[in-house]
Amino acid sequence: MSPPPAPYVIVCGASSGIGEAIAREYARRGAHIALFARRQDRLEELAGRARSLGAASTLVLPGDVSVPGEVVRAAQTLDRAWPRLDRAYLNAGTGGDQEVACCAAPGARIGTFAAREWDDTMRTNYSGALHWLEAILPRMREQRAGHIAVTGSMAADRAMPQSGPYAASKAALRALVESLRVDAGRFGVRMTLIEPGYVKSELTSRMDRWLPFITSTDDAAVRFVRGVEAGEALIRYPWQMSLLSRLGAQVPRPIFDLWAKWNLRGR
Ligand SMILES: NC(=O)c1ccc[n+]([C@@H]2O[C@H](COP(=O)([O-])OP(=O)(O)OC[C@H]3O[C@@H](n4cnc5c(N)ncnc54)[C@H](OP(=O)(O)O)[C@@H]3O)[C@@H](O)[C@H]2O)c1
Repeated sequence: MSPPPAPYVIVCGASSGIGEAIAREYARRGAHIALFARRQDRLEELAGRARSLGAASTLVLPGDVSVPGEVVRAAQTLDRAWPRLDRAYLNAGTGGDQEVACCAAPGARIGTFAAREWDDTMRTNYSGALHWLEAILPRMREQRAGHIAVTGSMAADRAMPQSGPYAASKAALRALVESLRVDAGRFGVRMTLIEPGYVKSELTSRMDRWLPFITSTDDAAVRFVRGVEAGEALIRYPWQMSLLSRLGAQVPRPIFDLWAKWNLRGR
């Protein structure tokens, strides 16, 4: 019996962290891989490594996910180069603690709240996913096949202080995927929501606080790819953080607020 044909896989947010590790995992599986992010040099470097790991072919697609025209251009290149699209990982993301520093800075007042700055997180994490969905769903619908995995976060369970914009973007993605999964499923397209706990990456390296149950990037990526290939609708990893996060979401509000204020002391 001949082996199954190599899948065509695009990874958005592939220049570092989880996306980079997902691309490496598919390279080891012999897939055709397209890499999308802003840092082209990092993508070129990864493409070289992916080929030596066994990727059937690689395509570098530089672009900013928050700029619709750049996503359209990348998707058109993909349409021309590939006969079909089997998997799309919508994983580009930004945020963490730094974007709310305007409120945390010593002496800062609520008057320093910068809507535009906070909206940047939404435009990358949420609107960026929408731009890619618009670009790829028609093609997958025509194929009546394909699988889209969107990276959310356990931060959607309960928004922590100083991470409001990030948690808001991930809660929006959760609602979007929960709804769209059924709609897309009606024309043969699968969807998976990936909700990581803490994973070592550039994003977490900027967080100056305790990150419980933080996992290696490779372990997380292998788990995510295995779950997507098995057709799981929701992947949360690691389970210890998933449990802690779900329990934390049930803590009554007055107790949560007391804990949150205590946690912020000195900041
Ligand atoms: N690490 C964690 O603990 C954790 C937990 C929960 C969820 N997540 C989510 O996992 C995803 C990957 O994050 P990571 O932890 O691997 O962090 P990371 O190393 O900072 O990776 C983020 C990736 O997103 C890309 N990206 C950011 N803004 C972009 C933009 N405007 N246009 C195109 N690409 C953009 C970055 O590439 P360029 O800078 O080159 O554009 C990079 O490839 C994110 O969605 C994040 O929210 C991470």
